[in-house]
Amino acid sequence: MPDTAQMAVLASRNPKKLREMQALLEPLGIALRAVSEFSDEEPDEIAPSFVENALIKARHACRVSGLPAIADDSGLEVAALHGAPGVRSARYAGTGADDAANNRKLLAALQGVPTERRGARFVCTMVYLRHPDDPVPLIAQGLWSGHIVETPSGTNGFGYDPLFRVDEQGCTSAELAPELKNRISHRGRAAAELLRLLRG
Ligand code: IMP
Repeated sequence: MPDTAQMAVLASRNPKKLREMQALLEPLGIALRAVSEFSDEEPDEIAPSFVENALIKARHACRVSGLPAIADDSGLEVAALHGAPGVRSARYAGTGADDAANNRKLLAALQGVPTERRGARFVCTMVYLRHPDDPVPLIAQGLWSGHIVETPSGTNGFGYDPLFRVDEQGCTSAELAPELKNRISHRGRAAAELLRLLRG
């Protein structure tokens, strides 16, 4: 078991995210634990930016665990909607809304908008805090540009994946193999950048 200097906590309850980040951090000798091992409480993410929300989550994870923490916050920005759904991506169609309801709302909001004006991007901000009052957080951002299609396609992934056309792959992100998506997505890019920052 590594000592606490080599441990960190991930501020996410998603076991898939934990496994993915564990694999990424292993070469750095950092063992990652889930925030759920320390607390069932979820902090309110109510800030207007991804980075602030990620910091809120990381600070909370540091406090409940006494360990350095990694947190991410992500979402979809659609240019024609002035950046919506943005930081409200998970609850675009209302608190507790599921992916299908969010996707329906997005398609309705873009009804009649031509292809060339349906540009969008996924954003992921990932942060690392050594302790809750760390004045120099590590901040990594990953962007992934594409277009919103008119008809959902594909069954992989989650969230807005069936509506997000990855232009260079010629398909939606729900049609990509998961390993490829993990490598080229906003989250993959943010994780790679955070790794670079952690290596120093
Ligand atoms: P979270 O911050 O990772 O929990 O993501 C917030 C919301 O953004 C999710 O509930 C999805 O609606 C959306 N989102 C983030 N990343 C993705 C993605 O890779 N594919 C599809 N939707 C995503």
